[in-house]
Formats: sequence, C-alpha cells, structure tokens
Amino acid sequence: MSETERKKVILSGIQPTGVFTLGNFMGPIRNWGPLQDEFDCIYFIADQHAITVRKEPAAFRKQTIESYALLLACGIDPKRSIAFIQSHNPNHAQLSWVLGCVTQFGELSRMTQFKDKAAKHADDINAGLFTYPVLMAADILTYNADVVPIGDDQRQHLELARNIAVRFNQRYGDTFTVPEGYFPKVGARIKSLQDPTKKMSKSDDNPNATVFILDDKDTIMRKFKRAVTDSDSEIRFAEGKDGINNLLTIYSCATGKTIEEAEKEFAGKGYGDFKLAVGETVADYLEPVRTEFARLMEDKTYLKECWTDGAQRAFRLSNKVLSKAYRKIGFVDYR
Ligand code: TYM
Repeated sequence: MSETERKKVILSGIQPTGVFTLGNFMGPIRNWGPLQDEFDCIYFIADQHAITVRKEPAAFRKQTIESYALLLACGIDPKRSIAFIQSHNPNHAQLSWVLGCVTQFGELSRMTQFKDKAAKHADDINAGLFTYPVLMAADILTYNADVVPIGDDQRQHLELARNIAVRFNQRYGDTFTVPEGYFPKVGARIKSLQDPTKKMSKSDDNPNATVFILDDKDTIMRKFKRAVTDSDSEIRFAEGKDGINNLLTIYSCATGKTIEEAEKEFAGKGYGDFKLAVGETVADYLEPVRTEFARLMEDKTYLKECWTDGAQRAFRLSNKVLSKAYRKIGFVDYR
C-alpha cells in the first residue's frame, strides 16, 4: 500500500493513575474500540506521564497492569490494534528531547493543566510536570498519527502538539503528520456528580463525585442517588442546570439516545426517579467491562504476551519516524 493509500492512524493514551472513570470511558474510550474497524489504532497506558506525580512503586506497578487489562476490557483488541505500555517503547522519551528543543518555555507556561497540577502539588513542581505536553506530542508524532480521540481537557495539549509538528516541519522539512483531535459530540466533558461545574476526575477528594468503571451496582446507585441537581424540577437540558445536563449526557452516552429523546422519556418525572434510572442504566452499561476485566486479570501470562507484542510493534513503527527526525536534524547516522 502506498503512503497516499495508507489507512489513517489513530492514537490515544490514558494514565494508569487508578481505575478509569465514567468520564474517561464516555469521553474517548468508548470510541476507541469501534475505531479499530476502520483504522490502524495505537493505544497505550501512559505510565511515564503518571510519574509527574509521586507514586508508591508497588501500587503503581499494580495499577499499570490493571489499567492495561482495563484497556482490553474496554474493547481494545491487541491483535487488531497496537496496545502497549508507554515505558516499554523508549522512542517516546527520545523524541520528546528533540521536540523539547523546538518548544518554547512560554508555551509550556500557558498550559492550564500544568497550572492546575502545580497548584495542587505545590511541594513537587518537578520539571516533568512542566514538560509533560512535550512528551505527549512525542507520543503522537512518533507514529505520525492522523487522529487523536481525546476528551475536552486534552484539547490544549493537542493544539501544542500540532504547533510543534508544524514548527519542526518548517524548520527541517516535512517530517511529522499534523494530527487532528477527535472529540465525541456527546460526552467530551463528563462532570463531577457532586460539583457539576467541574470535570469528573480520578483524583477528586469527594468519594461520591466520580463513578469508576469497576464500581459495583450498589456503589453506582448510591453515587447517582446523591448526585447534585438543582432547585427546579424539570428534566431538560438548559443553561444553569449543570447537574441535570450532566445526567442527561451520561444517559445519552449509555443508551445511544439523543438528549431530546431522553428529555421526552423523562418528561413529567421527578429528579429522584430520573437519578435511579440513570444509575441503573450506567450499572448495566458497565457490567460487561467489569466481567471482562475480572476474566483478564486471571490470566497474567496472556496480558504479558499482549503488552510485549504491542511494545515490539510500537517500537518498530516509531523507529521509522524517529530515524527520519534524527536525519533531518543533522544527527550523524551510525548504522
Ligand atoms: P487522562 O489519563 O487524564 O485521561 C484519559 C482520557 O480521558 C479523557 N477524560 C475525559 N473525557 C470526558 N470527561 C471527563 N470528565 C474526562 N476526564 C478525562 C481525557 O481527555 C483523555 O482523553 N495526557 C493524557 C494521556 C496521554 C495522551 C497521549 C492522550 C498521554 N499521551 C497522547 C492522547 C495522545 C491524559 O492525562 O489523559
């Protein structure tokens, strides 16, 4: 197949900082599986990104393995896609150094996620936290990815990756594909159940704010029953009704119904009934992921085979782009 006929390359990653949230799932991840039917897909566990926040090594290792199993449980087929763990392919970090040299200090200082995380971890504002978006650009550019399916909070990082690619290409000649973001129409920003003005996050201190995709049914029901709504009583998507908007969005993602269809279905019903219905739907929706995760965790040999194969394929593919970038810069060839 010639370069012009090649299938588009899809790439995305997720940090292994704990069980994925409903936000991770309903934003990008539920689309990752179906994209495999049409495109060449590369998905990875971003363990190198995760160490920008200090981790306890044994727990971190366990979380990375569980996250890899979750990735497969969410529908990623390690035969059809390249599914690996970031630190197993050294080319990301190698390219990251090169890209750091075409990235400005000012650009990185403007990243809102850096500002948020620096405020949250004021005792450990390490250089990795600052250069994190450069590594993310390297993750994407080292495979010449065309499309990056992510949630809203990664928009700024993707924009930076695009700018870095364009700048490098201008300076050294055509090397990198300039990637496009792919954001779901519904679900790009699932909100906290306790403060629906904020995104749902893995690291929320309030245990009722975040639904994790391995939560059991009782836990899911409890969290939805306690979801914050508003003093109105109508179930409709509208300005100022962040809690209800979020629940309608979640319901729409889980059922495939449009927001309007969901509004019609619940017209005249009370908030209590609505919250129960959303909880039930989400619990059923996540059930297959929980079951598949439990099955995969019983077979660590299989998991290891998958991530080893994924890393080898990822390494081979990324070598081509990295070598090209090295040549363009003027590094001396040694082979
Ligand atoms: P991470 O691990 O924070 O999140 C993984 C993906 O989930 C999306 N997401 C959400 N989507 C909707 N609603 C939410 N509440 C929500 N919370 C999170 C994120 O936007 C993301 O798509 N830096 C990335 C990981 C990464 C990456 C990459 C992604 C590293 N290298 C290269 C794409 C390409 C991150 O920390 O995502």
